[in-house]
Amino acid sequence: HRILVLHGPNLNLLGTREPGIYGATTLADIDARLLALAQQHGASLASFQSNHEGALVDRIQAAAGEGVDFIVINPAAYTHTSVAVRDALAAVAVPFIEVHLSNVHKREAFRHRSYFSDLAVGVIAGLGVDGYEAAVRYALSH
Ligand code: DQA
Repeated sequence: HRILVLHGPNLNLLGTREPGIYGATTLADIDARLLALAQQHGASLASFQSNHEGALVDRIQAAAGEGVDFIVINPAAYTHTSVAVRDALAAVAVPFIEVHLSNVHKREAFRHRSYFSDLAVGVIAGLGVDGYEAAVRYALSH
C-alpha cells in the first residue's frame, strides 16, 4: 500500500489551535503515529499539510503518478468551500476517506456541508486523532 495523508489549512497549528475543539496533539505527533502504524503493516505513508488550495490540488495530482492507492484527507475549511480540491480527487480517482477531528455536525451550520462526502469511501468526524488512525487502518486492510 501507498497511502497519502493530506491536511488542509490551519492544521499546522494543531496543539495550540482551539484545543477544546481540536485537542492537544500536534500535527507532527499525528503524522508520526500514522507513519508508525503504516510501517508496522509494511506500507508506505506520506503526509502533506498546506494552507494553500492550489498546493493541495498539485499534491493530489502528483499522487496519481506516484502510485498512491489511498488518500486520507482532512480538507479543514476547504471541506466547505473547495470545488477545486474536490475536482482534483475526482480527477485522479484515488479512493479517499474524509476525516474531521471535530464533529462538524454539532457545530455551525456552514460546517454541515462538505464538497467531499459524496465522493468519499467514508467520512469520520468527531473522533479526534483516533479518526485519522481508523482511516489509515481501513486503507491498510482494503
Ligand atoms: C475540521 C473542521 C472544519 O470545519 C474546520 O474548518 C477545520 C478542521 C476538523 O478537523 O474538525 O479546520 O476539518
